[in-house]
Formats: sequence, C-alpha cells, structure tokens
Amino acid sequence: MSLRIAILGAGPSGLAQIRAFEAARLSGAEIPEIVCFEKQSDLGGLWNYTWRTGLDAFGEPVHGSMYRYLWSNGPKECLEFADYSFEEHFGRPIPSYPPRAVLRDYIMGRVDKSGARQYIRFNTAVHWVDYAEDTGTFAVTVRDLKKDELSTETFDYVICATGHFSTPNAPWFEGLDQFPGRVLHAHDFRDACEFEGKDLLLIGSSYSAEDIGTQCHKYGAKSVTFSYRTQPMGFDWPDSFKEVPLLTKVVGKTAWFQDGSSQEVDAIVLCTGYQHHFPFMPDKLTLTTSNRLYPQALYKGVFFAQNPKLIYLGMQDQYFTFNMFDAQAWYARDVILGRIELPAHAEQVSDMSGWTERESQVADPFQAIDFQAAYIRDLVQPTDYPEFDVEGVAEIFKAWEHHKEADILGYRNQSYRSTLTGILAPTHHTPWMEAMDDSLETFLSEPG
Ligand SMILES: Cc1cc2nc3c(=O)[nH]c(=O)nc-3n(C[C@H](O)[C@H](O)[C@H](O)COP(=O)(O)OP(=O)(O)OC[C@H]3O[C@@H](n4cnc5c(N)ncnc54)[C@H](O)[C@@H]3O)c2cc1C
Ligand SMILES: NC(=O)c1ccc[n+]([C@@H]2O[C@H](COP(=O)([O-])OP(=O)(O)OC[C@H]3O[C@@H](n4cnc5c(N)ncnc54)[C@H](OP(=O)(O)O)[C@@H]3O)[C@@H](O)[C@H]2O)c1
Repeated sequence: MSLRIAILGAGPSGLAQIRAFEAARLSGAEIPEIVCFEKQSDLGGLWNYTWRTGLDAFGEPVHGSMYRYLWSNGPKECLEFADYSFEEHFGRPIPSYPPRAVLRDYIMGRVDKSGARQYIRFNTAVHWVDYAEDTGTFAVTVRDLKKDELSTETFDYVICATGHFSTPNAPWFEGLDQFPGRVLHAHDFRDACEFEGKDLLLIGSSYSAEDIGTQCHKYGAKSVTFSYRTQPMGFDWPDSFKEVPLLTKVVGKTAWFQDGSSQEVDAIVLCTGYQHHFPFMPDKLTLTTSNRLYPQALYKGVFFAQNPKLIYLGMQDQYFTFNMFDAQAWYARDVILGRIELPAHAEQVSDMSGWTERESQVADPFQAIDFQAAYIRDLVQPTDYPEFDVEGVAEIFKAWEHHKEADILGYRNQSYRSTLTGILAPTHHTPWMEAMDDSLETFLSEPG
C-alpha cells in the first residue's frame, strides 16, 4: 500500500492512532507509511510536565497545561486501555487516583512496548496544512525546530491530534489591568505553593477551577473564592471556600460580583477553559467548535465531513479519555485500510444530526456520561478493538460523580474495580489531602 498518513501530535490521541496501525501490522496487515509530527521533544502530550509558560525554547507556544501535584481527577479504571491493563504495566494493582507522573509512565509503557517511537519526528512543529483538490492530497509544512528549517511533504490523509486544552480562553474583566497581584490563566498555573497564605479568586466553575482551588487549599492558600458564570459547582466546601456569581470588576485588590458582594483577593486565576485552535489549518479545513460532547462537522466524531480524509481525534469534551481516543483511532484506521466504508455525504450529515439532537437532550453529568458511552460503543462495535465494558466504565464514572458530591476533598481516597481485570484497586497509603509528594516513587511505595 503506498498511502502516506500524517499524524499531527504525539499525545494520547496521536499515540492511539499509531498504536492502532501497529496492532494491524502485527496481525499481518499491510499498513500505510506513517509520519507523526510532534513539536515537543518527547511523546505524551499534556502529560509531560513543563515549568515553561508562554513560549518554548524555540519560540513555539508552550503546549503544557498541567501543573505540579496534579492527580488524576477521574478513576484510573475509567481510562484504562483495553489492550494494556494497569496491572500489566505496574506488575501489581495500584490505587485508583494516581498522580500525573504515574499516568504518564503508564502511557509510555504501552507506547514503548509497541515500538511507536520510530514513527515520530520530535521537535517538529506543524506550521501549515493545505489540500489540493486536483491531486486529492495534503501538503503538510513543518519546521524542524532544532535545525530551524521548513519543509513540506505530501500525504493522503491528515490526522489532527493536537489537543484542545492548550490555548486559553481568557475573558476580560474591568480593572484586571490595574490589579496589583498576579492574574493568570489556568494554562500558566504551575505550582500551588506560590499561593500559600493568599486569598485566591478563581473564575470558572468546571474542572480547572475545582482542581486548582482544592490544590491551593491543600498547599496552604488562606481562602478560595470561585466566581461562576452559569451555575456554582455546589460542593460541600470547607469554610475557607465560597462560591459567588460572576466577577463584574476589580478595584485595587477588591473584586466585585454580580450579587453586589465583594472580596479582597491577592491573585486571580482564570479557569475559563480553552479554545479549539488550529493556527496551521486554512479556513476550509478548520474545525470550529466549543468544548462539547459532539463537535459539529465531524462524522463519527472524527471525520471532517467536508473532507473526510482529514480526521480530528480527541476533540470532544472528555469524560472518557484514553479509551475513547483508542476507539476513534481504531475506527479511523479501519476506514483508511478500507475495512469500513464511509457512507455518502448525505448519510453522514443525517448521522451527525442524530447525535447532535441526542446531545441536546443531555441534561446532567450522568446523561453526559451515558451519551459518551453510547458514542464509544458505536465506534468500537465494527472494529477489532479489544472488547471493553464501556457501560461498566460509565457506571464507575457515575459512582465517581456521587463520591465527589459526598466529599470533594476526599473522593480521591476511593477505590474502584477494573472492568478489564476484575481487580479492586487497593487503598492508597496516604489520604489525598495529606499526600504532598506526588512522585511516582512515593505513590508506588509500600505503606509504612
Ligand atoms: C490540566 C489538565 C488535566 C487533565 N487531567 C486529566 C486526567 O486526570 N485524566 C484524564 O484522563 N484526562 C485529563 N486531561 C485531559 C487530556 O485532554 C487528555 O488526558 C489527553 O492528554 C488528551 O490527549 P490528546 O493527544 O488529544 O491531546 P494532548 O495531550 O494535548 O496532545 C497533543 C499533542 O500535540 C502536539 N502539538 C500541538 N500542536 C502542534 C503542532 N503545531 N505541531 C506539532 N505538534 C503539535 C502537542 O505538543 C502534544 O504533544 C487533563 C487535561 C488538562 C488540561
Ligand atoms: N486534575 C485533573 O485531572 C484536571 C485538572 C484540571 C483540568 N482538567 C481537565 O481539563 C479539561 C478542561 O477543564 P476546564 O475546567 O479548564 O475547562 P471547561 O471544562 O471547558 O470549563 C470552562 C469553565 O470556564 C467558564 N467560562 C468560560 N468562559 C467564561 C467567561 N467568559 N466568563 C466566566 N466563566 C467562563 C465556564 O463556565 P460556563 O459553565 O458558564 O460555561 C466553565 O465553568 C477537562 O477535560 C478537565 O478534566 C483535569
């Protein structure tokens, strides 16, 4: 087969695509030539911690949005790869909520076992993609960051897996420019210790606000005020937390809110989400969407309907992560290999409308989990992705939601049973609120 495939990005989604092709190759199939372009010096995407903010050593935007002491915010049993269990990687069961370094190690383990590195060109940033109607091929222009050289190559398919939690959505509020303390977006947050003894204001009421707020509390912030636009998170917060309506203005160190209340604050963190941002795509190939369960214009949540040879992976709002990326990658692979035939455009549009309509009926997180489970089930059904209990994982997500409601500072002490191996995770040796060291060595050490 002489097809050439470009994969943009070697985070969990791009790696899922490489792994999908590798699985086919190992089972005897002929696979296309694959080139994965990654601007970082290693694979792993967001799971690579960097101290850098702003621009990287080569002047490229820093991709990383993760921070020190970040622990998984969902049970590891919900993101387990169907073809590589946590027990297989670590040689024994481990607790349900690992810190970042432990999850990164798990991601790396599967990749290194599969020999995926050979396909990846590191330190190579994608700068432009174009599509020629006459030849039906893409021209991908990249910069070799170390050599500072541009080059262009031709591909039959482009798989865009560059993530969507790196370009801040940073709204403006009156007085921010005069605020005497630190103002930053969650993308640039790196270390909670900076805010020890401080009164913090976090704008937003989703995962970043919740996690950065609780983490700063854990590492000694004096108080945490969450300011919400649509609705408060509503958890049973300790006394040093409060939730207030949206910020209207800042005067000196005083933040004013829509209900007329005010609060003195030392620092402001905009936990206001991210933009889907593809500066290397021309308008005709750009996915335009908010952070939602079913981005419009993507058939099966991946094929750019205007040009299905362009595939976007991992662009959904995410409950499921690694195993959803796998499901998408296996399906995309099978279309490229000719094992699954794409229907006519009109049928694709009708299928997308059905999912969009279904998405509009989603009224709460529990229904959102069921929606995403149904979406994944739809993808894995026709492929040979190893059977995994999608609905069982959805039930673990629902238990997780209840555990968060019951104890927002203690939910990470819970244990869940792997749907893959049937093994119940052991309790971690240290409750999350007391576990200040997030290193892999300490997490995996025996209690004592
Ligand atoms: C703060 C934070 C915490 C999270 N915590 C969890 C968690 O606990 N559990 C969980 O399951 N998920 C978590 N996530 C969700 C996360 O989105 C996924 O786990 C996963 O990293 C997404 O993988 P991805 O490959 O789609 O994107 P990314 O991980 O973002 O990887 C994209 C890759 O593309 C590369 N890239 C981007 N632009 C270019 C370019 N122009 N040229 C070349 N390469 C490029 C990047 O360098 C990167 O390696 C978290 C997200 C954030 C922001
Ligand atoms: N430890 C962890 O594992 C961890 C930690 C942090 C983040 N994450 C992951 O990171 C991803 C992104 O989470 P996120 O919380 O950054 O983004 P998000 O889920 O998209 O939420 C964005 C938040 O910003 C608010 N917002 C947007 N524009 C605003 C505006 N103009 N004014 C006020 N508020 C505004 C939204 O409010 P509305 O509700 O009004 O829209 C929402 O509360 C998630 O997948 C999450 O799981 C994980």
